[in-house]
Amino acid sequence: MVVARDYEEFKKAREKLDGSVGFVPTMGALHDGHISLIKRARRENDFVIVSIFVNPTQFLEGEDLDKYPRKEEADLKICELAGVDIVFMPTINSIYHQDELKILAPKIRGYILEGAKRPGHFDGVLQVVLKLFNITKPTNAYFGKKDAQQLALISSMVKDYFLDINIVPCEIVRDKDGLALSSRNVYLSDEERVRALSLSRALKKGAELLSKGILDSEIIKKEMEEILKKNVDRLDYIAIVNREFKEIDKVEIGNSIILVAAFVGNTRLIDNIWV
Ligand code: PAJ
Repeated sequence: MVVARDYEEFKKAREKLDGSVGFVPTMGALHDGHISLIKRARRENDFVIVSIFVNPTQFLEGEDLDKYPRKEEADLKICELAGVDIVFMPTINSIYHQDELKILAPKIRGYILEGAKRPGHFDGVLQVVLKLFNITKPTNAYFGKKDAQQLALISSMVKDYFLDINIVPCEIVRDKDGLALSSRNVYLSDEERVRALSLSRALKKGAELLSKGILDSEIIKKEMEEILKKNVDRLDYIAIVNREFKEIDKVEIGNSIILVAAFVGNTRLIDNIWV
């Protein structure tokens, strides 16, 4: 496994790969969610590239950039065991330049839900993902459904900018008790972790209502809110959107996503189900 720390080093290693390339972009602190993406990339491609880069431009002022968990040694071990060919771990200066031109998230879908709570976040995500795509030149790129809005916007970027990359959406990996795995879960105390389970419980409730034929978004959101209100410290949103990320009044089975975002203690958590 090659570990490349800047673009030149990476380019040398990339030139040697002759075949299909699966790419998994991450910010490190790898857990079973990331590993499931890497394993899928391993199964479906001749070569696998993982990037580990805590991207400063997608963090807002006052967010957890400095505190974001960093576990370089463990991450490299995980990549090695998973059969990764190249890990790209660039320094900030090696991929960002002075006064560079910027790609912006779409005005509507980039500024609702996560984008409303974190304005500018998706500009930073798209900026770094476009760079990483151009550097790694993947055949297939793997993204978790956990970050559903991110996945939708990256798919739009690929379409809008005619990038020749296949985006592969991957299922959300959860702990046995239902908590969606996240690098930020390490911030939760034991007591907070119990309350954090209300996110997946509320989503399960939403799915249950659907199975009873209740499709009205307002009714579903109200019932979910009952569960969340008792457990989280601040509810950012409950939303029901179609796969194009437009809010809908009635669930379209097979084409909808129910999303929640909430603070438990100081930790902001997101979760969703695709229905
Ligand atoms: P990060 O949060 O490290 O996530 C990397 C990838 O892992 C994303 O595609 C994310 O959706 C996926 N992932 C995280 N938790 C998951 C889970 N429980 N199950 C399945 N997949 C999961 O997302 C980012 O990094 C960054 O924004 C990035 C795309 C790397 C750009 O900086």
